[in-house]
Amino acid sequence: MDIKFDYNITSDEFLEMVESVGWKTYSKKQIDNALANTMYMVKATVDGKLAGIGRVVGDYSIVCMLTDICVKPEFQKHGIGLKIVEELKNLISSNVHEGEKMQIELTPTAGNESFYQKAGFKYNPEKITGMYL
Ligand SMILES: CC(C)(COP(=O)(O)OP(=O)(O)OC[C@H]1O[C@@H](n2cnc3c(N)ncnc32)[C@H](O)[C@@H]1OP(=O)(O)O)[C@@H](O)C(=O)NCCC(=O)NCCS
Repeated sequence: MDIKFDYNITSDEFLEMVESVGWKTYSKKQIDNALANTMYMVKATVDGKLAGIGRVVGDYSIVCMLTDICVKPEFQKHGIGLKIVEELKNLISSNVHEGEKMQIELTPTAGNESFYQKAGFKYNPEKITGMYL
């Protein structure tokens, strides 16, 4: 499997990815705005075919959030999701300077907690529970 990563996602690719995993879709204008205001984004292709994406949004300084991590069903369970998260973590780390720290948060959908634990994230619902609106 020839997996390649690059750091740009078009709105059509974003739409193709979120539709492939059955997520709610957005208008093109919303997606364009979201991508234009994204801190870091990663796209994985396999043999030239779009296979997965992931994004980081945040303030470039203290806190950021992993979002829209998704791998097309036909490419799942080949390690691509973990590699996307790793790429994003590396991009974040490369911009955190000596003596600084940045918190990386995420809100996994139910059932995906152990995937993120494998990617190095802590899951401790007795101390921290995510919330959303
Ligand atoms: C979650 C998702 C990104 C994982 O991508 P993937 O490419 O299949 O994951 P990987 O192959 O890199 O899996 C890495 C490890 O996590 C495990 N894993 C993957 N998905 C998992 C899940 N949903 N629950 C538990 N473990 C999971 C794999 O078994 C693998 O473990 P192993 O190394 O011990 O074999 C993918 O299933 C997906 O896109 N799902 C739909 C969208 C989604 O729910 N995204 C997350 C939103 S929070």
